[in-house]
Order: sequence, then C-alpha cells, then structure tokens
Amino acid sequence: MLLTALFLDLVGLLFIACLVLAIWAVYFHFSKSEVPSGVCQPLKLRFLHIDYILYKMGFFSRYTLVRLGLDGFSPFCDPTLSTRMTFFDGVCVRIYRPKEMPAGLNRGIMFFHGGCGLVGSIDSHDRLCRYISKQSHSVVVSVEYHLAPEYSHPTLFTECQNATVHFMRNAETYGVDPARIILGGDSIGGTVVAHLSQELSKRTELTRIRAQVLLYPFLQALDFHLPSHQQNRCFPIISQEQCIIFAMQYFNKVKSLVDLIVNGSFVSENTKARYSKWVNSDRIPREFKNRNPKEAMSVCSESNPHKLMKQVLGTIFSPLLSDDDVMKDVPEAFILTCEYDIFRDDGILYKQRLEENGVPVSFCNLEDGFHACLVLINHWLISFPSAKNGLDHVVNYIRGL
Ligand SMILES: *[C@@H]1O[C@H](CO)[C@@H](O)[C@H](O)[C@H]1NC(C)=O
Ligand SMILES: *[C@@H]1O[C@H](CO)[C@@H](O)[C@H](O)[C@H]1NC(C)=O
Repeated sequence: MLLTALFLDLVGLLFIACLVLAIWAVYFHFSKSEVPSGVCQPLKLRFLHIDYILYKMGFFSRYTLVRLGLDGFSPFCDPTLSTRMTFFDGVCVRIYRPKEMPAGLNRGIMFFHGGCGLVGSIDSHDRLCRYISKQSHSVVVSVEYHLAPEYSHPTLFTECQNATVHFMRNAETYGVDPARIILGGDSIGGTVVAHLSQELSKRTELTRIRAQVLLYPFLQALDFHLPSHQQNRCFPIISQEQCIIFAMQYFNKVKSLVDLIVNGSFVSENTKARYSKWVNSDRIPREFKNRNPKEAMSVCSESNPHKLMKQVLGTIFSPLLSDDDVMKDVPEAFILTCEYDIFRDDGILYKQRLEENGVPVSFCNLEDGFHACLVLINHWLISFPSAKNGLDHVVNYIRGL
C-alpha cells in the first residue's frame, strides 16, 4: 500500500514538473517568436514549432527532434508513380518516375533536400518530389546525402556532386535526356544547386545543365543584416538565432560564435568592402523594405576575423560570392523566395548577380510563404496554401524547359 502511494505521488510530481516546464516553454516560445499579420493560419504555424517547445523543455537537442519529426513523414503511396532506391557513385538516391511518360528520353531533375545539412532526408521531402515528378512529367532523383555533424563539411556537397556527375554520364540508362537535366533544391539544397551549377559549368567534358531551380535558397554568410534578416529575425520555424545555431552545429563549431556572426564582426572590414558591391542592403528594391522597417542593429566596428570565415565565405557555402567569370557561365535559373524568410534577400541578390552576368532568371516571391513551407505539400492538416501555390510556379517553369 505504502509503495503504491509513494509511486502515485512520484508520478504526480513528475506530471506537475512536466506541466510547469511545458507552460514555461510555451511562454518562452510566445515571448521569443513573432508571427507577422500577413501569414495565414498563424496558430498552425505556432503548433509546428512544437519541437522548439520540447527542446526548451530540455529533453533532446533540437536537431535530433527535428530529424525525428521530419523523418516521421512516411512515404506517400501514389499509384501513378514508380519509385526505386539505388546508389549513384556510392550515394543513396530515390528515383521517381511517372508510370505514364512519353516514349523516348525525358526530362530529369536532380533534387537536393533542405534542412541546414543537419536534418531532413529523402523521406521528409518525399511528397514534394512526388508532386514535382507527377505534375511536371519528369524523372526526379532525390539524393540521400550524409548529414552533419556526423559527416563534416563539405561532404554533403561532394556527395551531391558525385551523384550528379554519375547521373549526367548515365542519364540514358535512366530514360533521361542528358541535355535536359535540371538541378533543384530547397534551403541548403538550393545552396548545393547554386554551387554545382557553378562548378559543373567549368567541366567542358559534361553536357551542360539545362537549368537550376533554387527554392528559398541560402546563398551567403557574409551579411545577416539584410532587410529580410531584420524583418524576420523572430519568425517561428526558423528564427535568425536558430539558423545560426544550426549553421554552427553544421560546422561543428560552438554556439558562442552566434553573436559574432550576427554582428558581422567575424568578417573583416576589408572583406565586407570587397563584397559590398554584391551584398548590400541598398541593393534590395524598396518594395521589399516596406514591412517592419526596423532600425539597423549597430554593427560592431571592431573587426575580429575568425578562421571559420574562410569556410563559411567560400563559394561552396556562399555561392553568391563567386566571381563574375564563374557567374556568366551558369545555366538559366528559377528562383523562389518567401516573404517571411530571413533568406529572402539572398535570393533577390542572386537574381541580380545572375542578370548582371546575362543569365536569364525567372523569379517568384511568395507573398504568404515562409521558409520551408513547400515541404508541407500534401500533408493534409499541416499544409499551407503557399506550398501548392509555390510548387505550381515551379512546375510551370519546369514544364517549359
Ligand atoms: C567523390 O568522388 C571522388 C572521385 O571519384 C572521390 O575521390 C571522393 O571520395 C568522392 N566523395 C564522396 C564524398 O563520395
Ligand atoms: C554584438 O552587438 C551587440 C549590440 O550591438 C553587443 O551588445 C554585443 O556585445 C556584440 N557581441 C559581440 C560578440 O561582439
């Protein structure tokens, strides 16, 4: 009897402790994040941030939680597509092919999923890839690259490159026309697309990539003060601080660098001056600056360049900083940005750099979109209208190629 009573007391105490933690975490979430009024379904958005609440309760590291959440998206059955898993030069991929396709060689898309290089998988992006394959009548190859911090930078970029080169050399084996291969990816997958488009354009022995599709890409780590960073600093899903913490985990570096990066003081004045013609708030058109005009944060004048700088500002991680000589040879592009995304201005600046180098760009800014919204396509209750709207723009572009 006594033991049972003691046990019940303990359970009760634990329950109360969890409740207090949960209330504190929800309070913390509301005090730290800010959902702008233009977003539809704000409560649903807050609900999706539940991983942050669990993380604040101290049970898991955040990326472990996000991995669990994202990979729990089970593959979706669709009788109109066939899928299979295989390896491209040692890299695991899933190939999607519509069952009814025109005879002969078709269009092929290499797709690189997002997730800061820390989270995400071919499962988390399964519905997105199915949607693109089915609606654009293309063979889609989704790449299961290894994640950081278990695999260090630039492994994911090398794996994506190796898999892509394999696909380009063996396209016909997969029913794909080598002259109609498109690179696509979201978030850091967009970084991969930009980097590979630059890198593979230098390789004259390969057939030219037909086009690059960048979905809310991250393209530079030089400036975290651009208007989109200021406007969306506290947006749930991916706040500026969270994004930099993830980036530090990706590089296996300590959190203490966050302030340094936000302040821009890890970049020397010389470096800033060198790139200011490409990365500069003054280059963002006025129409994008209307919302939440906030005072610019005071930027630390003391320069304290860090050795990490070389890696994060290299053209693999920051392809926006590549020279004009490289930019002028890349394939035409489709760039999708989201209004509620700290990385919106990366996309805008990349568009400008490509256009200045004579590369045609189709551009779309989703007015009610937020970072990562496309991943939620066809997820019933947690889907947002911006996902379908955005992907339909993507599909229309691809169909025209
Ligand atoms: C990519 O391919 C190169 C050349 O075949 C090889 O040396 C390298 O180990 C591969 N990298 C990865 C990450 O698979
Ligand atoms: C970053 O800037 C803020 C305000 O401008 C300042 O309080 C903070 O000490 C700076 N941090 C570092 C690491 O320079």
